[in-house]
Amino acid sequence: MSANLARQFLLREDVVFLNHGSFGACPRPVFEAYQRFQLELESEPVEFLGRRLTELMRTPREVLAAELGAAPANIAAVTNATSGLNIVARSLQLRPGDQILTTDHEYSALEKTWAFVCRQTGAEVVVVKVPLPLVSEANFTDAIIAGMTERTRVLFLSHITSPTALLFPIAEVVAEARRRAIWSVIDGAHTPGHIPLELDSLGADFYAGNCHKWMMTPKGSAFLYARPEVQGLLDPLVISHGWTAQSKEPGAKGAFGNSPFIDEIEVQGTRDPSAWLAMPEAIRFRQDNDWTGVAAHCTALAQDTARRLQGLTGLAPLSAPEFSAPQMVAMPIPECDTAEVHKTLFDRYKIEMPVFRWQDTYIARLSVQGYNSRPQMDVLLEALGELLDLGEPRRAHG
Ligand SMILES: Cc1ncc(COP(=O)(O)O)c(C=O)c1O
Repeated sequence: MSANLARQFLLREDVVFLNHGSFGACPRPVFEAYQRFQLELESEPVEFLGRRLTELMRTPREVLAAELGAAPANIAAVTNATSGLNIVARSLQLRPGDQILTTDHEYSALEKTWAFVCRQTGAEVVVVKVPLPLVSEANFTDAIIAGMTERTRVLFLSHITSPTALLFPIAEVVAEARRRAIWSVIDGAHTPGHIPLELDSLGADFYAGNCHKWMMTPKGSAFLYARPEVQGLLDPLVISHGWTAQSKEPGAKGAFGNSPFIDEIEVQGTRDPSAWLAMPEAIRFRQDNDWTGVAAHCTALAQDTARRLQGLTGLAPLSAPEFSAPQMVAMPIPECDTAEVHKTLFDRYKIEMPVFRWQDTYIARLSVQGYNSRPQMDVLLEALGELLDLGEPRRAHG
């Protein structure tokens, strides 16, 4: 990738930034658009927030909806995926004995959310161990469907997983959940701007995603999707002017002229919508820079780096390449003091990359974005080689 592209980001030049996955990184023109909105807001707050906000939100909602393959009426702006998923988890009416079916690859903040809900309602979480390495769709689908029982009320899955960077093939299990009247709740924190999405066709009941990761909008721009038929089940986390005691049937009008779903979730007291308003600029940045081509290059670089590391460790990957997130790969490494390796990678080599233990596997999670380059991958492999004492290439096993 060109150095020119790297210069369009605000990242420190002395850091090899290989962790786009955690919080994303915002390109300069997008960040400038965000700041222009903030300045405009501050120049006349009442005009901006009091009179124009509903209208201002319309264009970002439409452009995002087009990216997501969803009707604009089915997405509401939230600050992050966690808050979107909390709206769902804390709205669904669960009873003692009800089951929430999920996997052993979920993000810890959401595991806590469901644990909290279980404590409040008496429901229980049932965790399916996804067979690894993930090499076929049937591996995944069969394991999830085998976990469904008459008591399953919710299916909660990441679309792209955080610790293992796997792309779960969710379409079939979402359809099966619908057949069994199980609510499907999908954590798409990593998917917008990373994989193609067609949310209306997917048919999941609820889907939350972050735009500030792979769509590269500023932090605080995420969405909650809900199918029209289930929007009425949701209550906002914060009750404010958007709330009405009226019907939430499809077609009903909310307090600010959108649907009650959108108005209740988006209006929650005074807050800065500028990150969301920068959405069209983020999409323009991607188009102007041929992001489809850039992303394909990143995928090739991520997979090539994982293969090179595998050549040094002899450790098999967690999945076949098609089930790895395109721009993120969880690379198994030999047993080590992960906190120490993580710290030394930064202190000695200025490499920003998560290194951790997940179950019995030691993982270095590599993200590759348009600002990264092949020489950075060489630096990473050399650093890991030294830190993990990896000598000559080993033969692959198990
Ligand atoms: C799978 C997954 N879900 C949820 C989240 C939470 O995202 P946020 O902190 O933006 O709510 C993350 C963050 O990395 C994630 O990886």
